[in-house]
Formats: sequence, structure tokens, C-alpha cells
Amino acid sequence: MSGDPPASLLRQFAAVVGQSHVLTGDAAAGYAVDWTGGFTGHAPAVLRPAGTAEVAALLGLCADAGVAVVPQGGNTGLVGGGVPLHGEVVLSSARLDRLGPVDLDAGQVSAGAGVSLQQVADAAPGLDLGVFIASRHSATVGGAVATNAGGLRVLRYGPMRAQLRGIEAVLSDGTVLSHMSGLVKDNTGYDYPSLLAGSEGTLAVITAARLQLVPRMTDPVTVIVGADGPADVHALARRAVREVGGLQSAEFFTQAGLDLLAEHAGLALPLRPPTPAYLLLEAAGPGAAEDLAELIGGRPAAVGTGAAERARLWACRERHPEAAGFLGVPLKLDVSVPAARWVQLASKVAGVVAEADPEARVIIYGHVADGNLHVNVVPGAAVADPAHGAGRAVGDDRHEDAVFSLVASLGGSISAEHGIGALKARWLPLVRSDAERALFARVRAAFDPAGILNPHVLPR
Ligand code: MLT
Ligand code: ZN
Repeated sequence: MSGDPPASLLRQFAAVVGQSHVLTGDAAAGYAVDWTGGFTGHAPAVLRPAGTAEVAALLGLCADAGVAVVPQGGNTGLVGGGVPLHGEVVLSSARLDRLGPVDLDAGQVSAGAGVSLQQVADAAPGLDLGVFIASRHSATVGGAVATNAGGLRVLRYGPMRAQLRGIEAVLSDGTVLSHMSGLVKDNTGYDYPSLLAGSEGTLAVITAARLQLVPRMTDPVTVIVGADGPADVHALARRAVREVGGLQSAEFFTQAGLDLLAEHAGLALPLRPPTPAYLLLEAAGPGAAEDLAELIGGRPAAVGTGAAERARLWACRERHPEAAGFLGVPLKLDVSVPAARWVQLASKVAGVVAEADPEARVIIYGHVADGNLHVNVVPGAAVADPAHGAGRAVGDDRHEDAVFSLVASLGGSISAEHGIGALKARWLPLVRSDAERALFARVRAAFDPAGILNPHVLPR
């Protein structure tokens, strides 16, 4: 169906969720734009179901009417995957907010799709969620599973897929799938919860997940170590992975990003004199402080053990996503390469962007132990067109072409964490073969034959 849903369909939606949970007009506008302001669409209706049966009924109505649906969680995504860029109906998980009791035998919890990651992390004293991302207070379980969120502790606990011990989801025809018993060992067929992790809302609407929790860190120590550049950071991070037993995080950023945060956000610099690059390490448990001290040796470093001091150090890394925003609307590229090529990527990426656009500004930071680099590009002479994603003219793909070609030449991925979304579909053939993409299309058709789930995300 093209155009907005007819009044009769809106009445059917209201019969399922109640009139007050079918939002239209101004009430729906906030759901049509992402938090960066980089993606703006139009939501003819926002549906706020309170349970799985309501999700099933709504999807059944949408499938019958041929109405496209964008599932939306905390709307903290970075690739436009949760925004109705083509006038889709938004299915909000906000009221799927039930957090079950923690199963202390298994160290697991069942959480509705709309529960925030921070709520899961706080579910039981002594336990925590292995996935730790800056947007954890807003990002939801459903969205984090659908995008296979990574973040700051992947080197220790893996991404969201690795926390998943079960899933409940609704297919586009209203069929409910539920496999939530939380078995660690369960070889009884296809592991479709894993398949839904990272499917970006294209296969099913996730309504709940069974999540493995991890022991909460004890006696954490955070350090920021000064470094000469990417090669120095990488070498030190590799040693940390080998030599620091309780290592949780190994994060990279540069003085260029810190300078922006100091100037525009009043951030205090961690080291004086500054160094070109930095490695933030966090470790916990017995021996962590000693292992870190041994690793650091005589290098310039700032060390935090108390909560306030650690938070001050972490702000230097966690606020980096804001840094490029002080220069303009950034294009947020999120790439990874094999470990042995990370230094080449981090050293060359600004140069390839400069060849394409000499006035562009580039800020890099990321998860060095995962081979992951966040490349934030503020194009030179930007032409305001927020719907295109980065304040550039439609068709101006020079920056992505430059970065993604470098990444592909290094055997990497054009999306390490954020997903393909609406932003990167065009470049998927750089890193996924014809055979792989054909298989993706067949899987998608099997799950969503009506083709109504996030139809403009990932190529069909
Ligand atoms: C991060 O690592 O800070 C997040 O992935 C967000 C971002 O890339 O900006
Ligand atoms: Zn990240």
C-alpha cells in the first residue's frame, strides 16, 4: 500500500491497542527522526502494543493491508534502521517493558523488548549485562538484539548475540515464535535467535529476549595511557589482551577528538602534556591494578580506581561520538578489519577521505581489540540535506566510497556494530558476495513473505 493508512485501518489498530496508543500527527513526529537529527522520515502512525498478542494482531493487520512497518526501540541507532524514512508505520516497543525475576541458578533474565539495557544490568546485585554501550539508558533489549549491539566490553563478553539464550518474536503474518527456556546446550535445530540478532528488524519483531548475565566487576581500575599513534596503541592493546587477566575494555581515541570535546564541552584533558593518541584500558578483579601498572611501565598515564575518577576518564572515550558534531553533521561510519590490519586502517583512513574531499574533517576512535574503528566524517562545504544522512547533497557518496574501499581492500567489514540500515545498503556488495546476498534474500522471503518488515533496510 502506498500513502498513509486509511482511517478504517487506524480504527482497527485502535481496537487492538486502545486509541491512546495509536499516535498520529504531532504526537508521532518524535518517532520519525533519529537522535542525531541525521535521519528524518514521516510516521503516519505510531503503534504502542502492550504485549506479544497485541504485536501479533497488529502485524496481522499490517500484512493483510500491505502496510510496511518499522520496529523501533530506544531510537538510538546510527544508520537510520529504526526511522520510518519511507512513511512506514512505527511499531514502538516502549510498552513491552516487563523485566522478569532473575534466575540466579542460570544467571539469566527474561526481558521485554522495551526494557533498557541499564535496567537489565541493574536486575540483580552482583550480576551485570555483558554488553555495555554509551546509550544503555535509552537503548532497549529489542533494538540491541536486532542490531547485535557491541560496545565497550566485547573483547570480554562478545556482542549482544553472545548474551542471547532465547528469544520471543512475531513474524509478519502474526505467528508467535518463542524459545525462552534459556538452555545453554540445545542442539535441536536452527538457531534462529542468533539469526534474528543483527537482522535489523527485517525478519521478525522481537518482543522479548532471554539474556545471560555476567558477574559484576569487582575492584575495577581504569587507565588512560598516552601513545604516539595507532601502531603504538595497537601494540599496547595486544599486550594488554595477553597479559592483563581481568581486562574488560581496550579503547582508542585521539587528541583531535579530545581537543573538540575540551573546547566545546569543557572536558578535562586526561594527560598533560597531551599525546597524539590514547588507549583506555579497564580491568577488574584480583591482580588487575598490578597487571596494568606492569603494562604501562614508564609511559604517561592517568589511573582511576574510585567511581568519580573512573567516570572522568571514561568520559574522554564515551563522549567521542559527540566530538565531530561540533564541526557539523557527521557521517558516522563504523568499520572493522582483521586485527593485523587495524593499524593500516587507522593510519590511512583520514588520507583516503582527504583525497576525496580535502576540506572534510575526520575524527576516529573505537574498540581497538575488536579491530573496530569509528570514522566520523564531517564533509567540507556541506549541503544541508538531513534526510540523506549527513548534511550532504543527495548522491554525494565520495566519503563512503573512500572509506569502504579502503576497508574492503583490507579484508574488513563496512559495519562492525551499527548495521547496514538505510545508509550502507548500496555498499554491501563490496564485502558480501552475490551468493551470500542471494541467500540473505531467500532467508528474508521465508521469514517475511509479505515484505512488510523494514523493507528499506538491507537490500532485499
Ligand atoms: C561508540 O563506540 O561510541 C558507539 O558505537 C557510538 C558511535 O560509534 O559513535
Ligand atoms: Zn562503538
